[in-house]
Amino acid sequence: MRQEKGSKIFNKNELGRAAKLLQQGKLVAFPTETVYGLGANALDGQAVRAIFSAKGRPADNPLIVHIANRDDIEKLTANPLSEVAEKLIAEFWPGPLTLVVNKSEQVPEITTGGLETVAVRMPDHKLARELINRAGVPLAAPSANLSGKPSPTVAEHVITDLAGEIAGVVDGGRTGIGVESTVLDLSDHPPTLLRPGGVTYEQLQEVLDVVEIDPAVRAKVNQESQGAISPGMKYKHYAPDAEVILVEGAAGDVANKINELVATEDNVGIMASEEYQASYQHGLVKVMGSRSDLDEIGANIFKLLRDFDKLKVAKIFIEGLPETGLGLAIMNRLRKSAGYQIINV
Ligand code: TXA
Ligand code: MG
Repeated sequence: MRQEKGSKIFNKNELGRAAKLLQQGKLVAFPTETVYGLGANALDGQAVRAIFSAKGRPADNPLIVHIANRDDIEKLTANPLSEVAEKLIAEFWPGPLTLVVNKSEQVPEITTGGLETVAVRMPDHKLARELINRAGVPLAAPSANLSGKPSPTVAEHVITDLAGEIAGVVDGGRTGIGVESTVLDLSDHPPTLLRPGGVTYEQLQEVLDVVEIDPAVRAKVNQESQGAISPGMKYKHYAPDAEVILVEGAAGDVANKINELVATEDNVGIMASEEYQASYQHGLVKVMGSRSDLDEIGANIFKLLRDFDKLKVAKIFIEGLPETGLGLAIMNRLRKSAGYQIINV
């Protein structure tokens, strides 16, 4: 066990100590297959309140409740599971699919941001499930970053944002998927995709007769702050310190446009695909991955945004990608991290 500004760093053999802290109402971050989560006993209102204050998260933004065993969802929901829910669970759990269902009385309102529904997921990560099992309670866990910052994909990101604010973090190395879980609302018909993530829209379509996509998923403007004084600034998400500019369009045109834009800039970073990395004549280039491997790109984007902050670049230019498969989730996150500063070519 190491120590960083009052927060402990647990290795995989120290889960018992981490679980004990959770039982005492403390905050412990842990790895999942998507990103690191900031865990607390989901049924303990006091403990959950501490999550909101550590992250600086608005109280009306509900948390996902993480369980270790499929049947544990039953205590959290008011109604018996629908056939659709059963089907999705059989197909995708454990995994990066969060289901929104009507909540039972056991779930405090603070956990659900005052909503009558609760979001539940069973992570596909051994350490996460073992921690939940040892704690013996479901864990409310938002991504373990300061509100507004990119989600953490290594324990070090959690420490950077939250050291001193949390009891500890379980270090499980790099997370595999790198973008968060898909959030699917089953509390009404038809099932509606609220947040694209690790389980793709196409995968959901294979299992469901109908699935709608909430318009916010593909939004290219900040819907939350329309009419606000400073659009794109009031509600920041996934934002590094540097200014982010996302360039969308056909791959070759995008690379040309970025080259044109960086020509007159000093101190800029470029998040490039493997295919186009060599075409940039100026700026600090970091490779997201191959355009033919969106899984690789998904695993890298949040880390690269944070790496560029460490290098103190003033601006980050990012190549837009197709919205198929995991691309829908990746583009949703990149648009937000750019504060919707998007250039279409
Ligand atoms: O992959 C993930 O989902 C990660 C890991 C740690 O599990 N967690 C995560 O949590 O991304 P967070 O809090 O960063 O995002 C949760 C999302 C938010 O967009 C929130 O508004 C939505 O889920 N959500 C939670 N409960 C909801 C509910 N009852 N109804 C609608 N949306 C809900
Ligand atoms: Mg988050």
